[in-house]
Amino acid sequence: MPARRSQRTAKETAARPFFTLEWTGRHVRLLDQTLLPRRVRYLSIRDEKAMFEAIRALRVRGAPAIGVAAAYGLYLGTRNRRCRTAHEVRRHAASVAVYLGRSRPTAVNLFWALDRCAAALDSLPGDTDAEAALDRLLEEARAIEREDEETCEAIGRNGAPLLRGLRGVLTHCNAGALATAGQGTALSLFYTAARRQNFTVYVDETRPLLQGARLTAWELRQAGLDVRLITDNTAGTVLQRGMAGAVVVGADRIAANGDVANKIGTMPLAIVARYYKVPFYVAAPLSTLDPATRTGRNIPIEERGAEEVTRFGGTPVAPPGTRVFSPAFDVTPARLVTAIVTEAGVLRPPYRRSFAGALRTRG
Ligand code: MRU
Repeated sequence: MPARRSQRTAKETAARPFFTLEWTGRHVRLLDQTLLPRRVRYLSIRDEKAMFEAIRALRVRGAPAIGVAAAYGLYLGTRNRRCRTAHEVRRHAASVAVYLGRSRPTAVNLFWALDRCAAALDSLPGDTDAEAALDRLLEEARAIEREDEETCEAIGRNGAPLLRGLRGVLTHCNAGALATAGQGTALSLFYTAARRQNFTVYVDETRPLLQGARLTAWELRQAGLDVRLITDNTAGTVLQRGMAGAVVVGADRIAANGDVANKIGTMPLAIVARYYKVPFYVAAPLSTLDPATRTGRNIPIEERGAEEVTRFGGTPVAPPGTRVFSPAFDVTPARLVTAIVTEAGVLRPPYRRSFAGALRTRG
């Protein structure tokens, strides 16, 4: 049943002053994160091409949110093909999934969500008609969104005790509500811990696209947390001076051996944290674990366009024609990761063993 424009959706009326994305009943509305913090503007996404563009341009970003967005994109793209049979629905869904899979290569949640939707279609009885198959696709996208909210809460619950007694914590990029359908992964620990204790969150600005300054500082301040924005190269000093008692970051993909791909700049942060004996925690849903990827070396790392580095807020900051190397993510070796906080609990090294146990509980 389509939502009327005048009718406020559950997410609009929720306690949080913004939502990352929502299903309106006809299409997806998502917050255009490229405009934050200057403007809060929601986009209506009605087909897979618009969803592809939104993911590629980082209008919606962060591994879990990309997964939810891709699942809805798959439904929209398949719905628009006007299939006559369930077989056609499956065939079109497969081609839309290949298309959406090309939007961003590193966040495994994107592929996990698309595979999950394909599996939902495959499990339908042989006599299912096209409409029921499409309904099933939408139902799966909605379930992925709903479960992500619950997963984020559980990650916060499981991880908050690790922060007990700390006066400061440090994070990189944005692994918050803006990166998920819920209250985030790394930031979920902060939101949960903040109900019982006061602390300062040191936020790396996160060059080149400033997810820390534009997004993390924005959402933490709205939630009333004490934020200190720092340039990326100030993080070492914060750790050296003992101002942050833990580093907590998110992840885009975690290999079977515990190596973690996350926003570029995460790995050097882990090295400095180890040097100064500060625990380095990764918070991520089990959907970010990728048992099929043996080690970090096998994780595909997205490279971004030169203009993201040669321009700053639209202004050129490098000589015209300067060549650039701009990987969006780096890989932190498992041995630098103190623990990985998931919805199934806090996983400790050796990660192959703790992952096997956690994935068994997921089934
Ligand atoms: O390029 P982005 O902004 O999508 O990168 C996001 C990150 O690296 C996040 O830390 C990661 O996706 C975890 S989000 C819960």
